[in-house]
Amino acid sequence: MAPLKVIIDTDPGPDDALAILLALAERERLEVLGLTTVAGNVAVDLTTINALRMVELAKRPDVPVFRGASRPLLRKLVTAEFINGPDGLEGAGLPLPQLEPQAPHAVEFLLRMLRAAPDRSITLCPLGPLTNIALAFAQEPGLAAKVERIVLMGGARDLGNVTPAAEFNVFVDPHAAAIVFGLGVPIVMFGLHATHHAMATPERVARIAALGTGVARAVDGMLSRPRPGGVARFGVPGHPMHDPCVVAFLLWPELFQGRDCHVAVETAGEATVGRTVIDWWGQKMLAPNAHVIERIDAETLFNRLPQSLAKLG
Ligand code: BDR
Ligand code: CA
Repeated sequence: MAPLKVIIDTDPGPDDALAILLALAERERLEVLGLTTVAGNVAVDLTTINALRMVELAKRPDVPVFRGASRPLLRKLVTAEFINGPDGLEGAGLPLPQLEPQAPHAVEFLLRMLRAAPDRSITLCPLGPLTNIALAFAQEPGLAAKVERIVLMGGARDLGNVTPAAEFNVFVDPHAAAIVFGLGVPIVMFGLHATHHAMATPERVARIAALGTGVARAVDGMLSRPRPGGVARFGVPGHPMHDPCVVAFLLWPELFQGRDCHVAVETAGEATVGRTVIDWWGQKMLAPNAHVIERIDAETLFNRLPQSLAKLG
């Protein structure tokens, strides 16, 4: 079967980094057309550097990186150095990249790729705030027809992680998220209620570290750092691997279960801005606009991860 054509929109961040490495490792299954960067975990200059670091670490200089939006559509940028360190990849121990981002701007790259593509042929994988994706479709809404589906990390059915109501990616740019959930494109949504089950525990990280490769050392360094709120919040030590779930879903959909629901995004409420209102029980009788993942077979996922990463050498 021909590999799936994907564009990863990302704000690396350690979990984005692992998601990118997994996608680049599985090149027979996934054709990564490009990485587009966005401000989120850290400022866009740093997320771009970190995306380039992943491409170099994976020895995939053929995968272009495009620098995207430096701030959300309307709100002031909020970043997460307190979790990921000042450069967003603390512990990875990676040098600055030699590669440079490509022209054009990430949004223009998205537009060009979609214009040139047959209908329903591109899978978009947003792993950060949805600013670039919203800007692209705001310019040319008709290009939604070119998208096979959007598989994204964002939102939460239960508690948020940046406020009690909101998950980070949607909180950072709720207006962009509202645009994306309104596109009418098939969406698969990985919210915190699902990704908090994908914990990179010390034992799971050790299985990756045992590969003994440069990739394994970088992943081990990033994921062995203590996490603020650690055991008290999640019941087990380690970092939740939110974003790798998106790529894992493309590779191994049998590991995930969810439900079609209507999802609305709160853009205005003072205490609730960034909340994804997931109509889990269909109470509002609205047509579903997303397949919301609920369950993850995390043990199988973390068994398969080292096998995939081993392909990067
Ligand atoms: C999301 O926010 C970021 O910090 C992570 O990379 C992930 O995409 C989790 O809320
Ligand atoms: Ca991310």
